[in-house]
Amino acid sequence: MCGIIGYVGESPAQPRLVDGLQKLEYRGYDSAGIALADEALSVFKQAGLVGDIDLPAGATQTRGIGHTRWSTHGKPTDANAHPHTDCTGTVAVVHNGIVGNYDDLRRDLPGHEFTSETDTEVVAHLIEAELERTPDLREAVTAVVERIDGSYALGVVAAGYDAIVAARRSSPLVVGYGDDGNFIASDVTPLLSHTRSVSYLEDGDVARIAHGGVEIWNDGQTVDRPIHTIEWDATAAEKGGYDHYMLKEIYEQPQALRQAIAGRIDPVEKRADLNLSLPETFLNRIDEIQLVACGTSYHACLYGKQLIETLSDVRATVEFASEYTVGSGRNPERTLVVGVSQSGETADTLRALRTARRTGIRTIGVTNTVGSTVARECDEALYIQAGPEIGVAATKTFGSQVVTLGTLALTIADTRNELNPTVGRELCENLQDLPGAVQQVLDHDSTVEEVAREYADGTAFFFIGRRLASPVALEGALKLKEISYDHAEGFPAGELKHGPLALVTDDTPVIAILTDGARPDETKNNVKEVQSRGAPVIAVTSGGREGDHDIGFEVPDLGLLEPLVANVYLQLFAYHVAHSKGRSIDRPRNLAKSVTVE
Ligand code: M6R
Repeated sequence: MCGIIGYVGESPAQPRLVDGLQKLEYRGYDSAGIALADEALSVFKQAGLVGDIDLPAGATQTRGIGHTRWSTHGKPTDANAHPHTDCTGTVAVVHNGIVGNYDDLRRDLPGHEFTSETDTEVVAHLIEAELERTPDLREAVTAVVERIDGSYALGVVAAGYDAIVAARRSSPLVVGYGDDGNFIASDVTPLLSHTRSVSYLEDGDVARIAHGGVEIWNDGQTVDRPIHTIEWDATAAEKGGYDHYMLKEIYEQPQALRQAIAGRIDPVEKRADLNLSLPETFLNRIDEIQLVACGTSYHACLYGKQLIETLSDVRATVEFASEYTVGSGRNPERTLVVGVSQSGETADTLRALRTARRTGIRTIGVTNTVGSTVARECDEALYIQAGPEIGVAATKTFGSQVVTLGTLALTIADTRNELNPTVGRELCENLQDLPGAVQQVLDHDSTVEEVAREYADGTAFFFIGRRLASPVALEGALKLKEISYDHAEGFPAGELKHGPLALVTDDTPVIAILTDGARPDETKNNVKEVQSRGAPVIAVTSGGREGDHDIGFEVPDLGLLEPLVANVYLQLFAYHVAHSKGRSIDRPRNLAKSVTVE
């Protein structure tokens, strides 16, 4: 949700900023802009993509900031594009977050001329006012952020000031230490081609990023933030010859799934162990696990809940993070909250986890992003180890989240001596076989493409499945709607007849998941119901199950994980429907990868 980048060093800033912004475009793509500073300030910005900005050739400035926007306050226009400047045109600001009290702050700035509808512009004018009091940009920014209510990751440059000033509260900001200069960025992806050494700013930090070094203050004191080495390599965040990041990431799933279980399943003993730092006495005591997440991560939680309840005696509940309340009568000594977030920065999920922590409940964060706020704030971080996911539609991380929740379920059940050894052993074997099973589905991609083209003109699409296939039905529909813009809905199959059946016609393909463990025989009845209303049925089956559906895809036998494998067919189907319609697959309209506002 908005990406920011900054560079200060000995090389021209412009190409570094542009390249960085292109890698951050998945965070927002309504408008883009950069500001270059030396003794003067030059700003280039406009609505549209980074590649649309009208840039000068051969700019030599070695200091600058950039921004790619997901609009909150103000339409995606040229005027509302960041960077925003003050009245003198010497201070430029990029911002990710929301200045909640911007109206009040504006009223305190009589005589200042505002040129945009954004909440951010007020920050530039406040800095201008502070610079009348102090020539030190870092001091000016420190004074300004103290007056802001809301969230911010800020990058600021000013003419004649030889550093970038950065500040963070509730929106992510990373400092990168390169050979030819230092960086700030919303996440590590734009930094990988320059450096793997990064620090994560904490809430309340204000940093002065100069070519010669980085100084960070918090609450008036200088502070050290540890330098981490990022393991992802630069090519992991490139398209690697695929038409879209989404397709590349769908194809990366076998590898991602291997990484998700690496070191977590004993290949001989067939036992999972996550080496949790939470005390065993606590794990033995809990009687409820509350899973919280949004979107695709929420669907992974629905799958994870069923795995937890299948393997152990612990009750598992799932809530949309934006709706989460601890609930009355919860005993922190008996409750565990698990927040699942690919980005680790989703505002709704963070709010839910903080709500739990405030009542003394222990939290585990399941995330893909090392150093993310979820990872840092939770009692325990479990990394899904999927590698960077750039496509706005989450694909490989869904499977990796389910697998990580599966190993968590196994670990907890084992710790509590509640694990049926046969069931546990079989799930461990299935987890080991999962990458190969997913590869078998990927090998059928060209058939899925043909089917997708045949049905792409449906007026709406319905996805149905029971038990473990029910979250996959929801996920299949989400994937299709977000990238194809077609109406798509997922249901537990039994619910169809309680209302949605009224929408079914011969023009609404129904995708049914009929794998083992998903009560396929009952779902078959629902297939009959839609067929008798004329709907074409695409079925994903296992175990050579017969059926009279129009199209059938088969997944290998894989016990509790069969619906997860079926999901890969649904991802490919969504991709090819959207591709055949010429949609903006990696950057669907109105969406952003990391949703850092509530
Ligand atoms: O980073 P998170 O996992 O917290 O993101 C949650 C959702 O915003 C995300 O899964 C979203 O639904 C995806 N774009 C769906 O493909």
